[in-house]
Amino acid sequence: MSDYSTLCRDLVALVDGVPHPIANLANAAALLWQELEDLNWAGFYLSEGDRLVLGPFQGKPACIEIPYGKGVCGTAAEKQEAVVVEDVHEFPGHIACDEASRSEIVIPMTRNGVVFAVLDLDSPNVGRFTQADRAGLEVFVRVLEKALFP
Ligand code: SME
Repeated sequence: MSDYSTLCRDLVALVDGVPHPIANLANAAALLWQELEDLNWAGFYLSEGDRLVLGPFQGKPACIEIPYGKGVCGTAAEKQEAVVVEDVHEFPGHIACDEASRSEIVIPMTRNGVVFAVLDLDSPNVGRFTQADRAGLEVFVRVLEKALFP
């Protein structure tokens, strides 16, 4: 099981007082990529009108635009809630950027109640993301939101 309290402390050390949102998202993606096991993609999509656009990430090149309501990312953004997909082959409308991906978690990020980005993690293992991962990553995202918009 991942130690999310250490991960959040490391995040604060990286982003605290840094006034550059893209740099902070890039370092947050790199930290998750470095510290979490069994990932094949870790990064952010950023809201732009009615769609999400690829942001800082680690992993293979990925699809650039995802309309709200489409795929796992667009579904999480539209519902404004985390989506945990145990097996992407069972998720209707899953967008396969890397065919190695077998499970996925997406956590929306909000500012003043509006989604401005989503955190997206993919794994080559079915069932990689548990409710404990969801809870830990939700705290991680709250810490990051505060650093981006103090
Ligand atoms: N699988 C995502 C698309 C983004 S990639 O995983 C990086 C989705 O269905 O929204």
